[in-house]
Amino acid sequence: MAKHKVTVVGAGFVGATAAQRIVEKQLADVVLIDIVEGMPQGKALDMMQSAAVEGFDTKIIGTNNYEDTANSDIFVVTAGIARKPGMSRDDLLNTNAKIVGSVVEQATKYSPNAIFVIVSNPLDVMTHLAWQKSGLPSKKVFGMAGVLDSSRYACFIAEALNCSIKDVRAMVLGGHGDTMVPVPQFSTVNGITITELLPAEKIEEINNRTKHGGAEIVKFLKTGSAFYAPSSSAVAMVEAIVLDSKRILPVCALCNGEYGIDNLYCGVPVALGANGIESIIELNLNESEKKSLQSSAQAVQTVVDKLALTVG
Ligand code: LAC
Repeated sequence: MAKHKVTVVGAGFVGATAAQRIVEKQLADVVLIDIVEGMPQGKALDMMQSAAVEGFDTKIIGTNNYEDTANSDIFVVTAGIARKPGMSRDDLLNTNAKIVGSVVEQATKYSPNAIFVIVSNPLDVMTHLAWQKSGLPSKKVFGMAGVLDSSRYACFIAEALNCSIKDVRAMVLGGHGDTMVPVPQFSTVNGITITELLPAEKIEEINNRTKHGGAEIVKFLKTGSAFYAPSSSAVAMVEAIVLDSKRILPVCALCNGEYGIDNLYCGVPVALGANGIESIIELNLNESEKKSLQSSAQAVQTVVDKLALTVG
C-alpha cells in the first residue's frame, strides 16, 4: 500500500486524467469517485490493468460510495459541469455550487482532516464555498488554477523565444478568469526576466492569450474544456503535498490582508507542503500589477457575493 490515499472526485476527463497521473507517478493510492454508476469502476479497473505495462505498484479503485474514501489524505475535487463555447466560468456558478457543496459535506464526514484541492469552476468561488462548507482551516482548502495559468503562460513564452520550456518559470496571479494577472517581472528564462528578452507588444500578446487560454481550448473542443494541463497542474499540487516539498506555486488561497485582499480566495504564490499552505508569499509587485490583482480580487468578490445571495 502506498503511504498516502488520494480521492479524486469526478471521473470525467480532468478527474480520470488526474487519477491516472497520480497512480502512474506512484504518488498515492487513488479512489476515483463519481455519481455515475459503473463509470469510475470501469475507468479504475482499466487503469489497474495498465499497471503491468506502465510499472506502477500504486492501486486505484472506482466507486460511487463515500465510505470507500474514508481516511483520505487529499481530495481533488473536479466534479461539476464544464463550459460550452461562449460560456464564462461564472455561468457554471449555481449548478457547480450545489455539486461542490454536497461533495465537501460527504467527503468530510469520512475524512475530517483531509486537504482539499478544488478544481471545479468558477474556481475561486468554488474554493471559497468548499472552505466554508468544510469547517477546516484555510491552509487545508485551496484551489488549482495558478499552476495551470502559469503553465499556459510558460508554454507561450517558450514558443515565442524558441527556448526550452524547462528553463521557463512563469507566474500568473489573481482569479482564474479573464482578469487573471500574468506577472512578467517574475517570469523568467533561467533567471532572465522576460521583459529583457521579449518586446513589450509581444509580452502583451502572450498575456492576452494566457488570459483566454481556457476559452481557446473550449472553442476547439466544443463539448468540454481542457483536461491535460488542468490535471497535470492539480497533480503538481498533490505531489508537493505528498512529498512535503514546499514548492512555491501560485495557488488559489484565502488571503487575510496579503496583497490588500481580505477574507477572499484569490491566486497568490504559496509554499505548499504536507500541511497544505505553509505560507503565503508576498511579492513586491509594481503599482500596475497591484491594481490588476486587486481588480481581479474584486471580480471574484462580486461572484462570491452573488453566490451568498443565491444559497442564502
Ligand atoms: C480552463 C478551465 C478548466 O482554464 O478552467 O481550461
